[in-house]
Amino acid sequence: MKKVFLETYGCQMNVYDSDIVKSVLGKSGYEITDSENEADIVLLNTCSVRENANRKVYNRIHNIQQGRTDGSKVTIGILGCMATNFRKQLLENPNLPIDFIAGPDSYKRLPQLIGEVNGNGAESKNFDVTLSEFETYSDVYPSQSDGVNAWIAVMRGCDNFCTFCVVPYTRGRERSRSPENVVEEVRRLSDLGYRQVTLLGQNVNSYHYEGYDFAYLLDKVSEVEGIERIRFTSPHPKDFPKLLLKVIAENPKVCKQIHLPLQSGNDRILEMMNRTYTQKEFLDLVAEIRTLCPNIALSTDIIIGFPTESNEEFEDTVAVMEKVGFDSAFIFKYSERPQTIAKRQFPDDVPNEIKTERIVKLNDLQKRISYWKNLAHMGEIHEVLVEQESTKKSVDEYQGRNDGNKLVIFAKGEYHKGQFLKVRIREATPNVLRGEVVDVLQK
Ligand code: 5AD
Ligand code: SF4
Repeated sequence: MKKVFLETYGCQMNVYDSDIVKSVLGKSGYEITDSENEADIVLLNTCSVRENANRKVYNRIHNIQQGRTDGSKVTIGILGCMATNFRKQLLENPNLPIDFIAGPDSYKRLPQLIGEVNGNGAESKNFDVTLSEFETYSDVYPSQSDGVNAWIAVMRGCDNFCTFCVVPYTRGRERSRSPENVVEEVRRLSDLGYRQVTLLGQNVNSYHYEGYDFAYLLDKVSEVEGIERIRFTSPHPKDFPKLLLKVIAENPKVCKQIHLPLQSGNDRILEMMNRTYTQKEFLDLVAEIRTLCPNIALSTDIIIGFPTESNEEFEDTVAVMEKVGFDSAFIFKYSERPQTIAKRQFPDDVPNEIKTERIVKLNDLQKRISYWKNLAHMGEIHEVLVEQESTKKSVDEYQGRNDGNKLVIFAKGEYHKGQFLKVRIREATPNVLRGEVVDVLQK
């Protein structure tokens, strides 16, 4: 039996896809191993959303074969978002130590691609980077092993064409799975003991299938017995019709948490990014969400240093972050990506030192806001789903998440993974809450 070692870079969709790959290969008689040194085949599931993710993968490829202590030959495959890129690189440099390449829509063909690996030279290498309008892997059960939260990709691809983003080129057009198929998988996961599912998509709330929308899907999923919590990621602010907001606010199983990527707080930059909303429209949406659901946790993504972003325009982003008070934020330096509209139209002209200044300023601001938000929870009792041992401090503690997706840490006691507990919050830092268990919920 050939052994496969699989390493994943990038977003949650990639982690999910790696589980699809494990399932496909497992069925074809491959064994998945945690030990790179034992593996006959090393697969890297790659990300190209920012340049630093790209760079990491390049470095890694060159040290896989060198890392072999016994000198045995290892077969190397590149999967995921960098696959198309690598095809070009390989054709230019046939000595790149890669044996085959499979794009995000080609994983069912992996056994065949691996089986055909032979010899050297670009011509003998295997490629399949074709993007599909239909592939949703709705007939593959990913081999998830978390035991507490399960992911389900309900849609794939993206049609938004934000000008900075490479995803439409690496993952292709938007397509959704049927509600019945999603619900069937949720039922199966519930039977396996999962209590939480996270619906996944590059643009999850633009889910649509023959007239059924995302609000309908959330309600349907919530009807599955045994599932107590439903989350979703990542949505786009343009796809929050009233009905969806109502479902989020009123359906008790839908967690009161939304990741709402702002990207920029300045109207001119938002337009250059093709985000299709203005600062005011974003703030109005936040106000509407908070009216319906006052305690909702909001997180966001921000890009600083987009081409031509001036200091004043950056300050608009600062102002929106202060006004909204996100619970957490992922802040990125703009990174020019191949093929994107921004690369073709706008030179990457904000100097790196300015990008660094801006990211430091926003990270400091967000840290203060997150701390202040977390302090406001002191004394409250939160419902926590136990996830795992708290790795940072000690094995005597567990960590779980509250409804708003914040990490809550508490003494291990007699509790176990997958249990719902009531925890009184006693301590707060910008990143975590700590507390003591006051009750065990019978869910
Ligand atoms: N440069 C920097 N950040 C980017 N993101 C996407 N593309 C780029 C890019 N070219 C960020 C966005 C997105 C998150 C997943 O990654 O903020 O929401
Ligand atoms: Fe990276 Fe985007 Fe691909 Fe995810 S979809 S792996 S974030 S490029």
